[in-house]
Amino acid sequence: MQREPPVPRDLDAFQGRVREVYRDHYRPMEWRADPAPYKVFISEIMLQQTQVPRVMRLFPLFLARFPGFGELANASFADILQAWTGLGYNRRARYLQEAACLVRDRHGGVLPREVETLRTLPGVGAATAGSIAAFAYNVPAIFIETNIRRVFIHHFFPDRREVHDREILPLVEQSLDRENPREWYWALMDYGALLARSGDNPNRRSRSYVRQNSFRGSDRQLRGMVLRHLVDHGSIAAEDIPAYGAAEGFPPVRVEAVLKRLEDEGFLQRTETGAIVLRR
Ligand code: ADE
Repeated sequence: MQREPPVPRDLDAFQGRVREVYRDHYRPMEWRADPAPYKVFISEIMLQQTQVPRVMRLFPLFLARFPGFGELANASFADILQAWTGLGYNRRARYLQEAACLVRDRHGGVLPREVETLRTLPGVGAATAGSIAAFAYNVPAIFIETNIRRVFIHHFFPDRREVHDREILPLVEQSLDRENPREWYWALMDYGALLARSGDNPNRRSRSYVRQNSFRGSDRQLRGMVLRHLVDHGSIAAEDIPAYGAAEGFPPVRVEAVLKRLEDEGFLQRTETGAIVLRR
């Protein structure tokens, strides 16, 4: 059954409810207390695929090591990867450094504030560009991410089996607090997190919902193992490569395929002797 578009009263009631939840469930975070562009940028990349409590723990360590775009751009990739330990999905460490170099070289060291320009940075998709513009610069950007999606489905599509983001985006736009988008989006995210904790996960009804696949035996596990090994030991000798993943049950063809992909993505390179090392 198609629902009617919400009447303004619905939006008023919705905004009231979001604000009410926010008063009781605001989550303090370092990058909220001081939403400086660099802090927002690093935290949003971390939060793409890592849970808030873990990011809260690792963010200060990363910041202490790389306090600004300049330090990040000039760092060795091995150092960045090391500081990324525990955050997972290591490709983001590579994107971060490339983005920091672009900020330094193309934008005079200042993070751009326009969503379209932010999107040109590696690792920054539509949702991340919108969230960075909103949180760093209080720009009324329109975007959806997982917590925000959960709130809108919960409120406006309680009976629907499938909801497309293009149905949600107009509601995000109509309900946005244009005076203070930064705080409004914090409120939406906190509300979405509360819904998830309370066991209601309407995102299962989203057309964009993807279940996290199991980690054990996955390419992600193997990628993590290889990068961890290179950070700790520097290299994998050519003769050790075929048996590299054997202890964890990975056959040599899987190891070769993952190494090839990591090489194509710019994480590592092969020496003349066929050994694997992190890209310089
Ligand atoms: N606060 C600011 N950015 C956030 C995010 N991506 N997820 C949750 N809370 C946030």
